[in-house]
This record gives sequence, C-alpha cells and structure tokens, in this order.
Amino acid sequence: MDGNGRWAVNKGWPRLVGHRKGAERVKEIVRAAPDLGVRWLTIYAFSTENWKRSTKEVIGLMSLFASYIQREAEGLSREGVRMRFIGDRARLEPKLQELMGWIEARTRGNGRLNLTVAINYGGRDEITRAVQALARQAADGRLDPGAIDDECISAALDTHDLPDPDLVIRTSGEMRVSNFLPWQSAYAEFEFSPVLWPDFTPQVLAEIVDRFAGRERRFGAAQE
Ligand code: FPP
Repeated sequence: MDGNGRWAVNKGWPRLVGHRKGAERVKEIVRAAPDLGVRWLTIYAFSTENWKRSTKEVIGLMSLFASYIQREAEGLSREGVRMRFIGDRARLEPKLQELMGWIEARTRGNGRLNLTVAINYGGRDEITRAVQALARQAADGRLDPGAIDDECISAALDTHDLPDPDLVIRTSGEMRVSNFLPWQSAYAEFEFSPVLWPDFTPQVLAEIVDRFAGRERRFGAAQE
C-alpha cells in the first residue's frame, strides 16, 4: 500500500493524513474484493524496516491499526471477513496485540474474504524465525534435518494457513518487492501500478484483476 506519504505531501498535508486516507481505501477494497473473485487478500501495513520512521509517524500508524480494528470489527463480521495478522507481534504494544488476537478470534468463523494484515512483517525476519523454530525442534530430536522440505518450511512461516499469493500488486510506481512474502511469492504474478495507495479505487483493482485473468501461468513448465 505504497504512496500514502507522497499523496499527502503533494497536497501540503502531514503524512499521517495520507495514512488515514489509506485506511479508508482499505475499507473500500475489502468491501469490493469478494465480488471481483478475490477470496484471499494480504495487505502490507507496516514492515520491520518502518520502525526507522519518525516516532510521530510510527505512533500514528499504530493507533490507526488499533482504531481500524475497533471501528471495523462489526462491519467486517457482517461482511463475512476473516481477519488475520502476520509479522512479529512481540514488539507491538500489548494493547494492540490484544486487539489483534480479539478480532482474529471474533472473525474466525467467516470465510467470504480472508483478510491478512502484515504488521511488523518482513520476509527475511519471518524466514529467520521459522528457521530458528525448526532448528530448535531438530536440536530437541523432534525433527530430522533431512526431512525438512518445502512444505515443512511453509508450515513454519506466519502464513502457514494461507495459500501462496497468485498476484502481488505494488502501488505508487515503485518497482521493488521490499521484503513482502519472498518465499510465498516464488510463482506469483506481479503488477506495479503507478497509482498512489490513497487513490487506489476498487475500479483500479478490477482492471488489474482483469489483466491477471488473461495471463498464462506455467509454473516452470514449457509453453503448450
Ligand atoms: C506506505 O506508504 C504505507 C505505509 C507504511 C502504511 C500503510 C498503512 C495504512 C494504509 C493504514 C491502514 C492499514 C490498516 C490495516 C487499517 P508510504 O508512507 O511509504 O508512502 P510514500 O512512499 O509516499 O512515503
């Protein structure tokens, strides 16, 4: 969801106004996604590198996440959205961690849309934590190192109960992956949109989904 900061600065407003507008867009996209055939949606809200931002921006984002959970709980439940989080929660405020656990439990029975929000998420950090967990099991004699395969690694990641992404979209014209789902997106299709996230309407998503539907995916096999 890149481009919130630039969107606000271009208008002479503080960066946090862009994040607030970005949160409104999240709401619209979540509402529109199921009708576009999207059942799994993972959004990158805060990376392990985003702690380098000003304290004001970090605190503002954290309180935006908390208020989104509180304000949207009712609507998300009504719309059949199951909400999950990925990332390392240990560094987040206990109150936010509590809210995250609360909404995950509250929406567990829903399945119209699976919405996952990545907070304090970094692909390398996720893989490092998974490797540590597997190494601990091996050291305790509960895991044969020779038995570690693709599936075993996937099962140790934060995304263990999510399918791999079919399509990864980055907004705001940046052509980078920035540590987002590096293991899981090995065979994903990519779209880089010039649109800044606060301007990313359901219509823009619909056009991207349409283009994706026309792509031929071979997963390494030869062309027919
Ligand atoms: C990147 O834009 C965006 C973020 C670091 C924050 C994304 C968070 C939201 C949209 C808040 C809503 C999320 C939820 C779950 C309610 P940037 O600030 O890096 O933009 P820039 O590159 O233009 O500076």
